[in-house]
Order: sequence, then structure tokens, then C-alpha cells
Amino acid sequence: MEKITLAMVGAGGFARTYLNALWGNMNPEGYDLVGIIDPYASNSTLYAEIVARGIPIYNTLEEFYQEHTAQLVCIVSPVYVHMEQIRTALAHGSHVLCEKPLTVFAEDVAKLEEEARNAGLFLGVGFQWSFSRRVRALKQDILDGRLGKPVAFKTFISWMRSDAYYSKWHGHMYAPDGSLLLDSIISNATAHYLHFGLFLLGDRMDTARMPSRIKASLYRAKDISTFDTCSVKCVFEDDVTHSLYLTHSADRDRYLTIEMTFEKAVATILMDYGETDGHLRVTFEDGSMIDYDSVGERDVTVEKLSDMMEACRHPENGIPCHAATTLPFSNVCNSLFAEVPIQPFPAEMVYHSEGYNPGQYVHGLYTQLMDCFLQDKSPYELGYSWAVPDTEYELKLPEENAKRLREVLL
Ligand SMILES: NC(=O)c1ccc[n+]([C@@H]2O[C@H](COP(=O)([O-])OP(=O)(O)OC[C@H]3O[C@@H](n4cnc5c(N)ncnc54)[C@H](O)[C@@H]3O)[C@@H](O)[C@H]2O)c1
Repeated sequence: MEKITLAMVGAGGFARTYLNALWGNMNPEGYDLVGIIDPYASNSTLYAEIVARGIPIYNTLEEFYQEHTAQLVCIVSPVYVHMEQIRTALAHGSHVLCEKPLTVFAEDVAKLEEEARNAGLFLGVGFQWSFSRRVRALKQDILDGRLGKPVAFKTFISWMRSDAYYSKWHGHMYAPDGSLLLDSIISNATAHYLHFGLFLLGDRMDTARMPSRIKASLYRAKDISTFDTCSVKCVFEDDVTHSLYLTHSADRDRYLTIEMTFEKAVATILMDYGETDGHLRVTFEDGSMIDYDSVGERDVTVEKLSDMMEACRHPENGIPCHAATTLPFSNVCNSLFAEVPIQPFPAEMVYHSEGYNPGQYVHGLYTQLMDCFLQDKSPYELGYSWAVPDTEYELKLPEENAKRLREVLL
């Protein structure tokens, strides 16, 4: 097996999941980790191990490339530095696996796709479910027509996130240099699930589908500049829907519930901290079932790293999630910021918890948002006192959304 030379941008935060996957679960004969690029690497809990393994550390990719080359660069840094780092890596002839979201602006997604293609390089995006063997088996069955046409997808996530999570760049409208960052629950923390539905609706294994209309309302309970709770319905030209009811601020944790209805079957995933098994299952009209196995954390980082390394060895195999695959996701996220006002929860509903995940939460929100999911209706449609009317709009082109975002927010 050809050994792939690999560099990691990022040493702490989620980059540790990559390093643990490389060191713990991947064949060391398959790669050579030739450098780590992170100006704050010494803050990582893996710093001592990086040093003990003798892996050189650099502050910037430019400094790294003065001494090395790499066939693959994994970028696991904050979103606001992705664009520049991707361009530097491509300019030095490296394939790239960049964590989601690829960039702040959807209009840059297509530009980067083209730049990578012109350089003959892959630009993968770390949406791990698009690399997952289980998800790809489901998508193949959908493409083969086994489940019938898609009808309605819906997702509920209640994930209690602490104030500490929001103390860095998460939930920020602006990056440290004053440029737009647009970080929110849907564009980052639960990005996988918006992308998941769009990906399953794509007409090929490596495409996702662009909605034509959006109906959404955005809310905040935390002390942040964007939003931590939302109701977002993507509507496609043929009236298929993909709805997401997402919150970091409910008064009870239950990680994830997904239900996807097709003409002939219903696909489900339930993941709630060990109470359910996180299996992706499809139940057909006649009661028969396919269990695609768990889509939980297990193996997902290994799968995307392995696929990217295989693409370095055999470019003809391609990758299932490259920049253009994520364009619908990025465009929906940009459009929310361009079109939909953010509504604070009424102060009397918000409380501060010092217990589990210390932070600000909303009384009663878990049950109410779960009802939204069960009935596939927005908080306003269910008549909640705190809810604002949904904003409904035609989804514009990425360039138009970017222009409006710059006009309104800069
Ligand atoms: N796929 C997933 O499930 C998943 C989960 C969490 C985070 N992420 C993504 O991973 C990326 C990093 O998120 P995070 O929460 O770990 O962020 P973070 O703020 O913890 O940063 C990650 C690492 O990047 C380093 N860093 C900061 N500035 C840098 C720079 N200019 N150059 C190089 N390194 C730099 C930090 O020191 C840190 O070690 C984001 O794109 C995020 O959305 C993905």
C-alpha cells in the first residue's frame, strides 16, 4: 500500500478526533503524518503526544511547505481560516479534506471546487455521514428506487450546549478580524443533519439537492449574536420537504431523531445518549425492514480519512463529498442570515442552569419543539406564545445571498 504523506491543520478541538483516529484506528503503514500546523498547538491535550511522536509543529501552512510536501492536508481549524488555508494547500499541490462548513459564503464553494478541479486535486468536505458506508448504502437504495419517491424528511435535535461551548467563535456573527462568520446551530453544530437530507435527495452519489423555497424562524436564548434554536423547512420544486427543528437551549437533552418518509418506506435514526442504538433503519409498507447498522461516532472519521487517502492513491475512484456537494447546504445557511430575523426568547422563559452543561436554557422548549417535529409544523403554526411568523422566501443564488449579506451585515 502506498504510504500517503499527510499534514494536519489543527491540534486541539475536533482535530483531536482526527489524531485519535489516525493513531488509534488506522493502519500506520498507510500514512505518514509529516507535520501539524497550529499556532496554539501547545494548548491541545494531545500536545505531549505530538511532541513525543516527534511530529514537527508549524504556525502556518507556508512555514510547513518551506520544509515539507504533503499529498493530503486535513483542515480542522476554525471556519474563518478555512478559505485561505485551502487555497494555500491547493497551491502547493496537496489534496484537501476540510472540515465542515467549507467556507462562510456559499458563493466561494463553487469557486473552490473549480480551483481544486483545475489543479487536478480533490477538495473533500468532512461531512462524515456522506462518507459513511451505511449512509451510502441507503442512498444507493434510494437512487435504485427501492424506497419509492421521497415525500417528507424531518429532524429534531435537542442538544443542551453550555455557555463554555459558545465562549470561543461559535454563535458569532463576525470573525475576529471583523469579516462575516455566520456561525449558528444549523451552519455548524448540527450542520450534518441539514446536509444529510440534501445529500440523500441528490441525483448521484456525490451530489446534493438545492431547495427552491425556505420557510423558517430563528431564535436565541444564549448570550450570542446569532441563533441557537430554529425551525427550518426546505421545500423542493416537487413539494418534497426537509424540515429541521433544532435547539441548543431546550430544558432536556435528547440528541437526535430523524424520520424520512418515502412512497414505499420510512427511514429512521434515533440517537439519544445510549438509550437507543443510533441505527439507520428502513421499514417498508409490508413491515419488512433493512437495518443499515449504526451511524454513530464509531468509524466515521476513519471512513472519511480512508476515503481521502484512497482517492490520493486511486484518483479515478473519486470521493462522495467534495466542495460542490455542499453547495445546497451552504446556500440554505447563507439565506437564513440574509432573509430571516433572529428573535430572542422572552426573558421570563429563559433560565440559567449551573448543573448539567452550565448555561442558558428555555423552560418548556423540549416538549414544544418535539411537538413541532411530531406534527412537522413550525412553533408559530402550533401557536406558541413566543413564536414569530415564519419567513417564507424563494431561495436565491449564492451570489445574490452573499451580496445581500454584505449589504445588511457589514
Ligand atoms: N465533523 C464533525 O463532527 C465536527 C465536530 C466538531 C467540529 N468540527 C469542525 O472542525 C473545525 C474546527 O472546529 P473546533 O471546534 O475544533 O475549533 P477550535 O476553535 O477548537 O479549533 C481547532 C484547532 O484549530 C486551531 N487553530 C486556530 N486557529 C488556527 C489557525 N489559524 N491555523 C491553524 N490552526 C488553528 C486551534 O488552536 C485548535 O487546536 C470546524 O470547521 C468545525 O465545524 C467538525
